[in-house]
Amino acid sequence: MCGIVAYTGDRDAYPVILKGLKRLEYRGYDSAGIALVNHGMKIFKKMGKVAALEESLIGIELKAKAGIGHTRWATHGEPSDRNAHPHKSTNGKLTMVHNGIIENYSLLKQDLLKKGYKFESDTDTEVLLKFIEDIYLNHGVSLEEAVRIALKRVVGAYVIILLNEDDPQTLIAARKGSPLVIGIGKGEHFLASDATPIVEYTKEVVYINDYELAIVRPDELILKNLGNERVTPEITQLDMELAAIEKEGFEHFMLKEIFDQPVSIYDCLRGRLDAKIGSIRMEGVDKHLDQLVNANRILIIACGTSWHAGLIAEYVIEELCRIPVEVEYASEFRYRNPVVNEGDVIIAISQSGETADTLVAIEKAKENKAFIFGVVNVVGSSISRQSHAGAYTHAGPEIGVASTKAFTAQLVILTMIALRIAYTKKTIDQTRYLHLINELHEIPDKVSLILQETESIRRLAEKYQDARDFLYLGRGYNFPIALEGALKLKEISYIHAEGYPAAEMKHGPIALVEESLPVVFVATKDAYHEKILSNAQEIKARKGKVIAVITEGDTLFKEVADDVMVVPQADELVAPLLSVIPLQLLAYYIGVAKGLDVDKPRNLAKSVTVE
Ligand code: M6R
Repeated sequence: MCGIVAYTGDRDAYPVILKGLKRLEYRGYDSAGIALVNHGMKIFKKMGKVAALEESLIGIELKAKAGIGHTRWATHGEPSDRNAHPHKSTNGKLTMVHNGIIENYSLLKQDLLKKGYKFESDTDTEVLLKFIEDIYLNHGVSLEEAVRIALKRVVGAYVIILLNEDDPQTLIAARKGSPLVIGIGKGEHFLASDATPIVEYTKEVVYINDYELAIVRPDELILKNLGNERVTPEITQLDMELAAIEKEGFEHFMLKEIFDQPVSIYDCLRGRLDAKIGSIRMEGVDKHLDQLVNANRILIIACGTSWHAGLIAEYVIEELCRIPVEVEYASEFRYRNPVVNEGDVIIAISQSGETADTLVAIEKAKENKAFIFGVVNVVGSSISRQSHAGAYTHAGPEIGVASTKAFTAQLVILTMIALRIAYTKKTIDQTRYLHLINELHEIPDKVSLILQETESIRRLAEKYQDARDFLYLGRGYNFPIALEGALKLKEISYIHAEGYPAAEMKHGPIALVEESLPVVFVATKDAYHEKILSNAQEIKARKGKVIAVITEGDTLFKEVADDVMVVPQADELVAPLLSVIPLQLLAYYIGVAKGLDVDKPRNLAKSVTVE
């Protein structure tokens, strides 16, 4: 949460930083701000989106060779101009941007207040900056040393970047718990929360680790740990194309990413699944096959949409591999006292690879000697680096706040892992193994077919856009899809929606059913099909509106439903990869019909780097 960008080099810093902030806006959009040194320190900040800041700066002289920028997701202090970053030191010479939370800020603030410091904002960031300033001005140390001393006293998570009026082309940055990437150009450096603001200028990047401090000048990058020892920067080549982070003619990133799915699923399968010879090869899995096959138990930890992928994986792994699986919210796991043993395998699922709760949950499981396998989309992210092994989902950058293509890629990876384990363990027979490989192989084409018929879903969205509540019901592999459909709708359209196992309806939610309640059944053909058809009848009998995702040719369900969204036939184990697509589209089109900003829904951020 919160996006930060900085530049030092020979270019004009403002356009680089502004464009970078636009790319990082998915991380938070409560306010935006930029600091530049141009005849003294200049800070420009504005509540709202980056476009509002840009507009307020038209006609202002903004020439500078270095600067820092921030787009905020508010934690301490309401969204306002006052609380927007960058914050400045008391003497006005230092400015700082910050992503994360300083947990002991109130203690630090009390000490500073006693020393006579005054505060212009309600943020923890201003406290940290003034704490650094106090050490810098009163302890006769360099700014770099002051930052190091201050960070040793800080409890919490941070990426900070400081700009100093007295040495404007030297940026000081540090991280713990939040992401920071530094792009290396010729005589210039780019700093950002992720690589999207950097890729246009250079493909050489360094991912900064926790407890590292970077001193960045146009032609120099010095990395140190908090003990002031030099660390050799590890240069990585970015595997990202500019086109992947642009809308390419789509109205929104969310729609583009929904339409990306035939390709993103294919990319996820590519080089791993070979339908011709019936094999699955996954480097991260193959290297640790013994550990996975002999796991006493698999524990899946994740948040949000990734947690829903985990729920489906639980059904798939238990069915195919006969290994007990538990799925936990990372936020719960990290604070309770879970039983984790040496023979346990933890699968951590995360699109961003930066979700704070998932990261801490991993650390906790590691303390108990569990083996951590990461299923992550963002290459080089913290979770991927904290895991013992893993598989990237290769869905490409996902920019819309609502997760779509990352989810389907997660399902593909998790299903391939299950098949690989089951085949080795011999808990699946050859015929079913080959059948499922083939089913996975056919998914990209089947998703393309669904995406050819979006007009009817758009009309459906218009029909139901004014509903106050929605209920989503599914059984078996499609139960988590009901949860995911409801989450998508909530996020994008702000309509209250709940997902339930279809049979649970009778234990409470059926009380909600009345003429105005749309009930979405995720009812593709599976072993429970007749059961879910009966559930739909029960809703009809109470005058609820039935909308159903059905398999093509399912005339029975079509008769009961008021409206249907049709997907191609598929084995029930892979059917969620298809049934989720119409629900993503339904949420998207309802959000659009209501005139909402679907890529940046209110209060949300893409990468949840605070707990
Ligand atoms: O990056 P992660 O997969 O770890 O993120 C987890 C959730 O924050 C995320 O899935 C969130 O629920 C999405 N906005 C859902 O669309």
